[in-house]
Amino acid sequence: MTTSLQRFRAANGALDAAGLRRTLNARAASAALLDLAGNDYLGLGSDDRVIEAAVEATHIWGAGATGSRLVTGTTALHDELERELADFLKAPAALVFSSGYLANLGVLTALGGPDVTIVSDADNHASVIDGCRLSGSVIRVVPHVDVDAVGAALAAVDTPHAMVVTDAVFSVAGDRAPLAALHAVTRTHGALLVVDEAHALGVIGPEGRGAVEAAGLASEPDVVRTVTLSKALGAQGGAVLAAPEVIDLLVNSSRPFIFDTALAPASTGAALAALRILEAEPGRVMAVRRVASRLADMVRARGVETVHPAAAIIPAYLGDPRLAVAAASVCLRAGVRVGCFRPPAVPKGRACLRLTARATLTETDLAHVRTVLDDVLVGDGGETDLSRLTTAGNS
Ligand SMILES: Cc1ncc(COP(=O)(O)O)c(C=O)c1O
Repeated sequence: MTTSLQRFRAANGALDAAGLRRTLNARAASAALLDLAGNDYLGLGSDDRVIEAAVEATHIWGAGATGSRLVTGTTALHDELERELADFLKAPAALVFSSGYLANLGVLTALGGPDVTIVSDADNHASVIDGCRLSGSVIRVVPHVDVDAVGAALAAVDTPHAMVVTDAVFSVAGDRAPLAALHAVTRTHGALLVVDEAHALGVIGPEGRGAVEAAGLASEPDVVRTVTLSKALGAQGGAVLAAPEVIDLLVNSSRPFIFDTALAPASTGAALAALRILEAEPGRVMAVRRVASRLADMVRARGVETVHPAAAIIPAYLGDPRLAVAAASVCLRAGVRVGCFRPPAVPKGRACLRLTARATLTETDLAHVRTVLDDVLVGDGGETDLSRLTTAGNS
């Protein structure tokens, strides 16, 4: 036992030395921080109507779902959410999971297997990677957003079936998958396209119906979508949108669906209310994208590498993980919470701050962010910067 603890202590020490150790930092309910780290893109997580819906659902259905979906966990609220999600996303059918992570695991394990090759983008989210691995499929990882590489991988498949899996919007780089081209090559090879719309729902397309719908692929039988209810919808949970045959198969064989307590009524009710607000107030979609462009302009103006954001995610590449940690800590002290991504979440040398846009940020908020970034993102990103930021971070 002592030996085990020594091993774990050494592993933690090694993370520390490399600037890669993570700690949990509880946020205070009343913290007057400007949040540019969360994924509540449309500001619906704190909308009174969404909160009321969660409270009402709890009063009606209880604090928990009481069981798995196939036993007692499916309520009329789950049915309603599935119907409205399918309508909004113009999909034939929907199935709610208790998280976006589990929706990805559930689809990939149920539709994959040793007789399936999965072609997966190198920058896909961890839940997609884990789903691929757990499925026991033959996995071919292809370079990021490289349609030719996907075509070549599909041409070389020697299993009876194949799937291509991609994030619609990549969770750190914030760029977008070329869905129309990916679908064309996938169809040519008789494969299935699985798209994770976690960062696209509520943000991509004029009404926020996601990247698949924007690409005109919403009712294609060879496209399966996953979404999360925890980002633009401000709640919790996940869902799969697909043909009824796929949904039937998931209900009968997807272990993360079958052996998991159903999504809690509060989250189900909150997600449903948020979805209705998204549909009634499409102005929020354009607002979050405008804020994202403004934030990217601020990063670029400081000479720091970023992207033209496809959705609400804006990376600011600093390279050295110690620099990213120090910069995030200075932002926090100045009242702005930003994300900080280090290996293994990003490749070595690509540590970055990640700013996320929110539709409800005001001009005053943005002016404050500009002042903070002007202070943090200066210099050449080298050792001088590191000691300047570290000193400021510890002050
Ligand atoms: C691309 C992507 N897919 C899936 C997930 C998982 O969703 P959830 O948080 O609902 O489990 C995330 C969450 O960070 C994500 O970024």
